Amino acid sequence: STGATRTDDGALAVAGADLRAVAAEHGTPAYVVDEQDVRARSRAFATAFGEAFTTEAGLAGADVYYAGKAFLSVAVARWVHEEGLGIDASTAGELAVALRAGVPGEAIGLHGNNKSDDELRTAVDHGVGRIVVDSLPEVERVAAIAAEAGSVAQVMVRVTTGVHAGGHEFIATAHEDQKFGLSLAAGTARKAVDEILAADSLELVGLHSHIGSQILDLAGFEAAARAVLRLRAEIADATGHLMPEVDLGGGYGIRYTDEDALPPTPDQIAERLATVVRAACAELGPRPPRISIEPGRSVVGPAGLTLYTVGTVKDVALDGGATRAYVSVDGGMSDNIRPALYGAAYTAALANRRSAAPDVTARVVGKHCESGDIVVHDVALPGDVHAGDLLAVPATGAYGRSMASTYNLVPRPPVLAASDGSVRVIVRRETLEDVLGLDVG
Ligand code: LLP
Repeated sequence: STGATRTDDGALAVAGADLRAVAAEHGTPAYVVDEQDVRARSRAFATAFGEAFTTEAGLAGADVYYAGKAFLSVAVARWVHEEGLGIDASTAGELAVALRAGVPGEAIGLHGNNKSDDELRTAVDHGVGRIVVDSLPEVERVAAIAAEAGSVAQVMVRVTTGVHAGGHEFIATAHEDQKFGLSLAAGTARKAVDEILAADSLELVGLHSHIGSQILDLAGFEAAARAVLRLRAEIADATGHLMPEVDLGGGYGIRYTDEDALPPTPDQIAERLATVVRAACAELGPRPPRISIEPGRSVVGPAGLTLYTVGTVKDVALDGGATRAYVSVDGGMSDNIRPALYGAAYTAALANRRSAAPDVTARVVGKHCESGDIVVHDVALPGDVHAGDLLAVPATGAYGRSMASTYNLVPRPPVLAASDGSVRVIVRRETLEDVLGLDVG
């Protein structure tokens, strides 16, 4: 499950790039992302949705927007865009990277529950194809900013459907008691629609639903799709405005460890959603909308790993007489906050050699000053793992670098793109000078 292969002499390689050579040239920790894997995952979503949502299938087409929060850099934005995806941005920073990569405004969406005036103005000025409004005050603010710019902003309404899905509480987003979206049940989504339809500087392109993240069971997406399609039909009845588009958000889960269930493939996801959309539209009446989705994790997560160097190894006695090897690496919660934040499980593999030593129960920990700084809770590693060995932690391509911090003033690792047997730097390593340069006191 490393997404990597073994060389003849037992080292791991990503896209043919030997991780020993990568570490020697670029240092560790480092994120290594397989460019062709990201491209293939992007293409798989674009193709699956393109083929499932055709007019011959009684549907109206589909678009895939890559959710840049998972990890965005100019190179990644180019890759996914070249494979046919748009970009879902949620801040001025993500918007700037997408624009810098040459992604046109109409292929970009902007999210956020608290967008600044600057963010909205940038989106309006660049003709962002879908500003996803998240509150009633925001409707007025976008309308005013677009009017001031003499343009018409294309907006979607983010609807809270009440569907409860998604692993951790912090990443589930469609139940009522959380900060995102406009409520279907309480009628605020409907109110936003009426206000948008009444505003000359706004064009209502659709409804949006995002129910959560790292979801493996597609039933929640189906329930949310039915709910937003019903609302679209009700609005068409009441106002005569049939919205051309419905966005079903992101959230498709991936496999982090061998214990995780196999995630649905893009083909399976597209097929299931197409079936639900077709059935719901047949039952409700209005012709089907164009469908869009916003996968992030499932596009980049499995394509990336983190490469660390082992430092201190310590055997700790456990109750009952067993021991646990605490294997410290040269990064930790600053480059992967997910274990500490969500209790997320990862695995690790010895990356620089094969070992015949029997496995021991190990815990991979970081170098930060807290005991919760755990990279991998429980993993079987060869008993002879020692300082200087390399460890690879797979499936860190999403929400690794993008959520990295400089905690303890540890500079953030680079992102290296592996392709055809070599790597190139796409995000350079942060230096201590970068970090200290901000301190002007
Ligand atoms: N669309 C919207 C509106 C979202 O809020 C998100 C994720 C996505 C799409 C992409 O979801 P994905 O396909 O990546 O699951 N930091 C957390 C995940 C937070 C996700 C927030 N929104 C983690 O590390 O698990």
